[in-house]
Amino acid sequence: MNRNQISEDTIRILRNRVSLLPKGLRNHMFRVEEIGIEIANDHNIPVNLVAYACLGHDIARGMPENDLLNYAENNNIPIDPIERQSPILLHGQVGSHILQHEEHINEKEILEAVWWHTTFQKNIGPIGQITFLADKLDERKLKQYPFQEEIRSLAKVSLLKAIVTFLSKSISTMIEKEQIVHPLAIETRNHLLQILK
Ligand SMILES: [Fe+2]
Ligand SMILES: [Fe+2]
Repeated sequence: MNRNQISEDTIRILRNRVSLLPKGLRNHMFRVEEIGIEIANDHNIPVNLVAYACLGHDIARGMPENDLLNYAENNNIPIDPIERQSPILLHGQVGSHILQHEEHINEKEILEAVWWHTTFQKNIGPIGQITFLADKLDERKLKQYPFQEEIRSLAKVSLLKAIVTFLSKSISTMIEKEQIVHPLAIETRNHLLQILK
């Protein structure tokens, strides 16, 4: 496996950060790493950055919501009103900021993938696309996303098609349950539908 594009420091920092997390969260991150590698292999994308973006995606997921909100406020991370209401939604942005500014990781694909893994965003590259999908395809999320198999099959053919289908299905479930939908999810879906026409 070629991991040359990542510095040894980055690998050590990520592994150390992950090792300090609660077991359940850590195991989720390991499963996401495996799924990410499988999807990368489907598309002949080098697995190194994908593996470490997936491994590190939830490093801030265990932080209390108040801490996430305070961290975002103190570090000028933009906060959407829906994120102020549900600060857990900020864990990607906060995790990415910690990796960049406290741990001095500078692989931009990893930082971008961690930042956007919850909502996604229209201009994300393939490393971030795979990280987003792999996170949603963890088998422990089957109840939340019963359409996982369809998304996994689509991901073999087209990452963007898989993402837009995931967004369509998850947004419609949220609407049925009368939950608030993150505006970025709608914006991204609209953009992807247009470019995939
Ligand atoms: Fe997450
Ligand atoms: Fe996750």
